[in-house]
Amino acid sequence: MKTTIAEIGNYVGQTVVIGAWLANKRSSGKIAFLQLRDGTGFIQGVAVKAEVEEHVFRLAKELTQESSLYVTGVVREDERAPSGFELTVQSLELIHEAKDYPITPKEHGTEFLMDHRHLWLRSKRQHAIMKIRNEIIRATYAFFNENGFTKVDPPILTGSSAEGTTNLFHTKYFDEDAYLSQSGQLYMEAAAMALGKVFSFGPTFRAEKSKTRRHLIEFWMIEPEMAFMDHEDSLKVQESYVSYLVQSVLSNCKLELAALQRDTTKLENVVAPFPRITYDEAIELLQEDGHEIQWGEDFGAPHETAIAEKFDKPVFITHYPAEIKAFYMKPDPNRNDVVLCADLIAPEGYGEIIGGSQRIDDEALLKQRYEEHHLSEEAYRWYLDLRKYGSVPHSGFGLGLERTVGWICGTEHVRETIPFPRLLNRLYP
Ligand code: 4AD
Ligand code: MG
Repeated sequence: MKTTIAEIGNYVGQTVVIGAWLANKRSSGKIAFLQLRDGTGFIQGVAVKAEVEEHVFRLAKELTQESSLYVTGVVREDERAPSGFELTVQSLELIHEAKDYPITPKEHGTEFLMDHRHLWLRSKRQHAIMKIRNEIIRATYAFFNENGFTKVDPPILTGSSAEGTTNLFHTKYFDEDAYLSQSGQLYMEAAAMALGKVFSFGPTFRAEKSKTRRHLIEFWMIEPEMAFMDHEDSLKVQESYVSYLVQSVLSNCKLELAALQRDTTKLENVVAPFPRITYDEAIELLQEDGHEIQWGEDFGAPHETAIAEKFDKPVFITHYPAEIKAFYMKPDPNRNDVVLCADLIAPEGYGEIIGGSQRIDDEALLKQRYEEHHLSEEAYRWYLDLRKYGSVPHSGFGLGLERTVGWICGTEHVRETIPFPRLLNRLYP
């Protein structure tokens, strides 16, 4: 019976065949332990000299790392195995012999691993991270579909920017200037006026010259946008979405979290509602802790970490000064100098995972913002139309996929959370 490692538990006591690669190996004169992987999981194959044909045992001893093979064996339950099963090898058929695989079980430097990203993805750790990324993607679609949202795909080649003009990737669109999308938000606002509750899920690009453990040049963002929903309604969606993601990973990725040695007690806490503090309160907290920060300044990574440390769940920081936020955010009706927005800061120092706000719905105010932000009215005319024809209160947010994966997996750097990261100094492989 041909099967996969993930399905092998259905065949206890039976003989199965799996296609696999040799991840690692230990052997003595009498027994060989083969660490096998097939993409769906990892399992140990045990070849005992006395129990297999001579050429099979010889092959087991000679197998090189990352060679591909078909393994025939009997499935056994084994409490000590992470997956709960082991394969007693009966025969082996070599498909392709790998010679001198560069990533050996010894430690390698990060740059070396990044140069070999196409191979590094095969490691148990990277496998676990990609599986968790996939679970977060699956849970995202499930959450928004279950809650009445329609998926809408905004364009990637655009003529105007959503998040300011400094980080835009410039390109040519025949004879015109074009930019790679930094955010689909403005288009999602148009879609919300047509479909009510919408979400997008796609790549976004920022030519940010920052070399931090939280910044990618190309990253994936989930952007929900909701008509007739105010700032408060949006925070409720955000906290239940993020709780849903974390709880889905906890239930469906136990082996992967164990492979990453993730301390899951902190994740178990992540259940809505989340604590909230205003920007003003955050500034006070930071000043009390001796940080040199004044009202009106934006938070850096150390500030976010210091605030996050005071809570055991993600924390919303709300009502930032209008001056340090995007042009489209709606001012607080009680206080013109702050806007109805929130950033969601992940625990354990992972920083901002969501940015969101209620949007300006008044045409005159939006026009005034264009002027203040020196935005060309021409490029944004269609966006103004949304305030001309049946304008309604509406809110939305963007969750960064890689930062969320990084937090849930407990990775040191976002470079491990996307298959082929684009970084300041890296466009290869
Ligand atoms: O806070 P940002 O810039 O918000 C927006 O783009 C809004 N237009 C979203 C919306 O309201 N529809 O980005 C949203 C999130 C951040 O919280 C962060 O998680 C992630 O996107 N992000 C990045 N992730 C990796 N690398 C980068 N360079 C990122 N920049 C933002
Ligand atoms: Mg932000």
